[in-house]
Amino acid sequence: EVIDIEGKFLIPGLIDMHVHFRDPGYTHKEDIHSGSNAALAGGFTGVLMMPNTDPPPDNATVIYYWKEKSKSIPLNILFSGCITKNRAGKELSKFYELKEAGAVAITDDGNWVADGAVFRHAMEYAAALDLLVITHAEEPTIANRGVINEGYWSTVLGLRGIPKAAENIAIYRDIEIAKMTGAKLHVAHLSTAEGVRLVAAAKKLGLKVTAEVTPHHLVLTDEALAGYDTNLKVNPPLREAEEQKALLKGLLEGVIDVIATDHAPHASYEKNVEFNDAPFGIEGLETAFPVLYTELVLKKKITLEKLLLKMTVNPAKILQLPKQGDIKKGNYANLTVIDPKLTLKVSEELLVGKSKNNPFLGRTLTGWPVMTIYQGIVAYQRILKGVQ
Ligand code: NCD
Ligand code: ZN
Ligand code: ZN
Repeated sequence: EVIDIEGKFLIPGLIDMHVHFRDPGYTHKEDIHSGSNAALAGGFTGVLMMPNTDPPPDNATVIYYWKEKSKSIPLNILFSGCITKNRAGKELSKFYELKEAGAVAITDDGNWVADGAVFRHAMEYAAALDLLVITHAEEPTIANRGVINEGYWSTVLGLRGIPKAAENIAIYRDIEIAKMTGAKLHVAHLSTAEGVRLVAAAKKLGLKVTAEVTPHHLVLTDEALAGYDTNLKVNPPLREAEEQKALLKGLLEGVIDVIATDHAPHASYEKNVEFNDAPFGIEGLETAFPVLYTELVLKKKITLEKLLLKMTVNPAKILQLPKQGDIKKGNYANLTVIDPKLTLKVSEELLVGKSKNNPFLGRTLTGWPVMTIYQGIVAYQRILKGVQ
């Protein structure tokens, strides 16, 4: 079959190493099928699912459930386990069992393991098993039940603030423990300039430390919260422009390896409440590429090549994925077609995922994925409604 893609970009399938598919336990927000549809519509051919489900994967059972439910989906769905039993921060999960079942990483995403001795033990065990540890990095006593970044806007809006120190202190501790144990540490959703500096210093020491940043932290700042939009309530919170500048610089200079969405769907009825009561999280699989293409590539802040490095090659390396396109091993290439001219307004109807808590609703974006090819199969094709 010949597919005409004249005037379009053919790129490697995007990989998102940070998604919440809410399955099992919160499938009114998303489930493995709806999340996979969102991923494919966003041009992703690989995702790493986070373990803050109910029940969470602290042993092999949930991993087996995930495997079974995802086996016929044309998407490379990767699994992570949680660091502690029932995500309670005390006893370690069954790492060996999780690894045997197919988990490629363990993480405390959603709730940082505050007990340093528990985290040290986890990192020692992970190092022995060569398991990647992904840290959520938020010291809870400093975060102190804040709801947005602590600074000018938290003061003006009268909202409780989350100081940057909460993130920085957590990153500092985790890097020190990485140094003690030799474990591979990946810092999730970096949002501060000091965090970038700490990761850069760790890399300079030769530690196996990597980091990611989200599209929303790269293009939005806390100023956007002036309208109390709960779709902008997220962890870590949107920060000031200076922090954002440092994130972009860190990304360009190679301190930040990966762009990951932290796709965190929540139902409208959960988000349409008073700001303090809304859950944290932004859904973003479908808009990630057009947001980054429109706001960064077209504005010449990053090259397309570098953007793709952060969304394909680097996450594949960190997750130790087999080389794509090795046909002798039965491994065909995963590909995405981007239409660099296609301009669409983000609307709830456009989004195929179950939840619509997307902060870019109403924005006009350019550079949409129009076809996603997984192992030789056209897994997604964008159907454009109306007159073009
Ligand atoms: C995530 C979620 O909703 O699961 N929320 C968020 O604000 N990022 C959890 C997380 O990534 O820490
Ligand atoms: Zn997190
Ligand atoms: Zn997350």
